Amino acid sequence: MSFRVNAWTEWGKLKTIVVGKADNAAFQPEEPGYKGKINNPLIAQEINWPVGKKKQSVIDAANEQLDNLSHTLTSLGIKVLRPTPIDFSQNIKTPGWEVSNMFCCVCPRDVMITIGNYVIEATMSKRGRFFEYLSYRDIIYCLWHDSHMKWKTAPKPSMNINMYWEGYWSKFEGFDSKSNEEKHQILHNYQYVLNESEIAFDAADITKMGQDIFIQHSMTTNLKGIEWLRRELDQHVKIHVLNFPYDKEPSHIDCTLVPLRPPKNNIKGVILTNPERPLLEKDKIFFEKNNWQLIDSPLPNKINSQMPSFCSSSKWLSMNLLSIDENTLIVEENETELHSLLRSLEFELIKVPYRKVFEFGGSIHCSTCDIEREDTNESFFQTN
Ligand code: ARG
Repeated sequence: MSFRVNAWTEWGKLKTIVVGKADNAAFQPEEPGYKGKINNPLIAQEINWPVGKKKQSVIDAANEQLDNLSHTLTSLGIKVLRPTPIDFSQNIKTPGWEVSNMFCCVCPRDVMITIGNYVIEATMSKRGRFFEYLSYRDIIYCLWHDSHMKWKTAPKPSMNINMYWEGYWSKFEGFDSKSNEEKHQILHNYQYVLNESEIAFDAADITKMGQDIFIQHSMTTNLKGIEWLRRELDQHVKIHVLNFPYDKEPSHIDCTLVPLRPPKNNIKGVILTNPERPLLEKDKIFFEKNNWQLIDSPLPNKINSQMPSFCSSSKWLSMNLLSIDENTLIVEENETELHSLLRSLEFELIKVPYRKVFEFGGSIHCSTCDIEREDTNESFFQTN
């Protein structure tokens, strides 16, 4: 297979993509940056957040849905690359810390990103995910055959204890009984679990819209991480920082702001937004001024609002879709309300079952990473 590394948008015609694999997956370990929470109260009463390898039947069920997505993409003429899973049940130890096991390689979106002809490996922000990049190195060496491809790896943080603000986990205690003013202040001070002592980001906090890319300041990306990206990329793209104050645990932008198609000939572009995580007014104005229409996603379907017991993502995985081109989207099969909305916006939909993948870190967008799209670094934002 030959590849050209080139991707500037979330919607350009897709040519090559990575799809994750669930083999050897383990439970994401608890650590300063991550606390596991079992969604089913009956199970939560009985056991603590588990450690070690996940059950083989659970892994097989997720792989079946991941393989089905791969076949769907291949049948559309898209090249699909798959990672090389390592043994994620291994204990890992660095000079500064140790965790019982790693996680999995289901979500390449979190670990790497293509921006133009660059493939960038993120620093990552969680100890259990420190070595996840190893599963994608075979792919990156394949892409390296494209002599125009540039490979950047961000500086690995120590992930030592002093990178994390422990107070984060009690920040919302007694929140409901606070005055509106106090609530507003807590939500708008943007203090998350990572402090600013080292550069840290997960690639999934970025969304690409041509010459402009948008990065969410979050639990998984600090301001130093954003500044590193800006210094590396400012010859090619303009970086915008977004905050979503009503998301108490922001992590990865692809359940919050999902661009679907660009403005064209006086017809507005479309961005899917999250009704529970509104943009700040200044950001909303910026998008609208530039001819983008912000459309709230409907509430997730009943089945998907009850998340699987060991899933750490929110019900908003409902909007975690993948664009094949500006008119065609791959969506989770149960999200019927979202399907109707998207059809009314004249999108063609391809539905896939995906619920079994949810507890491995995300849904369709998370478990993929686009390598080649037919697009350029066009500017879709003329007004500041
Ligand atoms: N934190 C997001 C939510 O719960 C889930 C994001 C998953 N995305 C990803 N790329 N892994 O809404």
